Amino acid sequence: MKPSIFEPSSIAGMTLKNRFIRSATHESMADEHGTPTDALEKLYIRLAEGGVGAIITGYAGVQQDGKSSLLRMLMIDTDELIPAYRNLTDRIHEYGTPVILQIAHCGRQTRRAVTGHPTVAPSPIDDFIFHEETPHELDNRGIEAIIESFVSAAERAKKAGFDGIQLHLAHGYLLSQFLSDHTNRRRDKWGGSTVNKLRIVSEIINRIRQTIGNYPVLAKINAFDNRKGGMRVEEAVEIARLLEHHGCDAIEISSGVVEDGLAIMRGSHPPMEALFKSSFRFNNMPTLMKTVASPFIHFAMRSPKPLHGYNLEAAQSIKKAVSIPVITVGGLHDLSDISAALENGSTDYVSMSRPFIIEPNIVRKFQDGAQTASRCIMCNYCALMIEVDTVKCYYGRLP
Ligand SMILES: Cc1cc2nc3c(=O)[nH]c(=O)nc-3n(C[C@H](O)[C@H](O)[C@H](O)COP(=O)(O)O)c2cc1C
Repeated sequence: MKPSIFEPSSIAGMTLKNRFIRSATHESMADEHGTPTDALEKLYIRLAEGGVGAIITGYAGVQQDGKSSLLRMLMIDTDELIPAYRNLTDRIHEYGTPVILQIAHCGRQTRRAVTGHPTVAPSPIDDFIFHEETPHELDNRGIEAIIESFVSAAERAKKAGFDGIQLHLAHGYLLSQFLSDHTNRRRDKWGGSTVNKLRIVSEIINRIRQTIGNYPVLAKINAFDNRKGGMRVEEAVEIARLLEHHGCDAIEISSGVVEDGLAIMRGSHPPMEALFKSSFRFNNMPTLMKTVASPFIHFAMRSPKPLHGYNLEAAQSIKKAVSIPVITVGGLHDLSDISAALENGSTDYVSMSRPFIIEPNIVRKFQDGAQTASRCIMCNYCALMIEVDTVKCYYGRLP
């Protein structure tokens, strides 16, 4: 049967009012310990009131060395955080909206200057953006510790009332680094074959199952990453199959890594003004240097095409290979594109990030017929300015 866009459905026992999910979006709304703030609660209430089927939080760090270089990241690395999250989930549940905690370790995509710890990765491969130091190759003990941190994070999420967790296996963060041959050059049991590269993830899922049993575990994966020797759709299909085999409850399909400009969140123009204003890379750069560097940065940050629905084709291939729900994100901002993708069976659910930043009530507007497309102009200022402020829509201009 074709999915009905505004009818309730369920993922692993969670009831969603419709087929729209808020994709994980770093909000920069935690305090200095990673505790959710009132501002975050207000934002989630606006999303819930606005009719979204489920909310996936911004990424929450599982241990200190995997913390984001962005400010005010949510953390889930200590039990002390549980009561604040419990208040948050209780409030969102008043609206009948499931809320899923995305858990992550940034691996090489962070900075020692922010975390206070050496950066770690599967292999010592420099990152184009975060190359203050070559990341340290993880040894077995380090990998075991990270697996345990993810499992403890899932336990805390369950205690805090989250309806499930989402493992962040996309966008070039640590678990995504293990999955891509571009960043994983290992020849031990954590690298080489697809099964080996996925081992850290399958261990996490297996141990979550052993520890907390039947609890929704979702995953966000990269279908491709445009890196030399990196992730390709064919391997992503295999990864999706294996994830299902290991008991993953739903897979969200994304693509791209941070060092590849606007690959994750595409847009027609590089957000130069926001980049210069926000990025640690340009803080101390003299204006003349910025002018000279501009054409190069413009080139490096050009977006791949198409700008809309760019993960749908890959999602279709993955959906054919698995029977768990497939969620697709990436430039799905127009109701007619979304309806078509659901109707032609490319995806079971659609998730969005930027459309909810400009209009947290976009789903209600779609449902009421007030609007048929997001007003987002894909300027991507929101994605850059979270380095210096809480998430908001700039509509292509700095105040
Ligand atoms: C401000 C901002 C923050 C984001 N933070 C996250 C995040 O924490 N975790 C994640 O998986 N993706 C994150 N993303 C990526 C989005 O979830 C999504 O994959 C991407 O923006 C494409 O979807 P869209 O066209 O609906 O915006 C972020 C995107 C933006 C714009």
